[in-house]
Amino acid sequence: MRFDVLTLFPEIFSGYLTQSLLKRAIERGLVSIHLWNIRDWSPDPKHHKVDDRPFGGGPGMVLMCEPVVSAVEAVQAKAEPPGHLVMLTPQGERLTHGLVRELARHPRLILLCGRYEGFDERIRILLKPQEVSIGDYVCNGGEVPAMVVIDTVIRFVPGVLGDESSVVEESHAEPGLVEYPQYTRPRVFRGLEVPEVLLSGNHEAIARWRHEQARLRSKKQAHEGS
Ligand code: ADE
Repeated sequence: MRFDVLTLFPEIFSGYLTQSLLKRAIERGLVSIHLWNIRDWSPDPKHHKVDDRPFGGGPGMVLMCEPVVSAVEAVQAKAEPPGHLVMLTPQGERLTHGLVRELARHPRLILLCGRYEGFDERIRILLKPQEVSIGDYVCNGGEVPAMVVIDTVIRFVPGVLGDESSVVEESHAEPGLVEYPQYTRPRVFRGLEVPEVLLSGNHEAIARWRHEQARLRSKKQAHEGS
């Protein structure tokens, strides 16, 4: 699966791209990530300006049409297929397990990261992106949200997870059900013991216990959320 990220700050991604699961997925050719600086499409050759003050006044700066539209069009033309365009904005559709799975069906995603007060509205009208939000809060830009999209979507790319069953088994795959408690060595830590059933070797009993624990946790979470 191919991701193209359009951003004003490509350097933000470098640490993330060179770590663990994603690094291995890239090395194995399962995922490729291409970073593009929107500034490279600025019509202003001297200052590489990409933003301007809003018409009508108000605080902050607005990302201008020309560099953003040109950048998206140029990047889409660089490879086949042109890719599904996702704009990271706080107003977008909430990223859920279901939306992650939907996004993972595309062989190529173009992730457009904003900064400042937002995008000139005509960018939305012209490019018709799918707008995605990672939650009901405002990040300083779309870069961290784009990393969240990549991090969650690649888990659905065949071969990325060592154990193919994990993505299905993990939390949120079963609607409303959270993860069961996990334990590893030592058997006792500061007086806290690993539940006996997990040491029993009885796989049926373990599965039953885990399912019950997940159910109890979901109930508790629903209660706390209300
Ligand atoms: N940009 C700023 N805040 C965001 C959010 N919560 N989700 C996606 N993009 C954003």
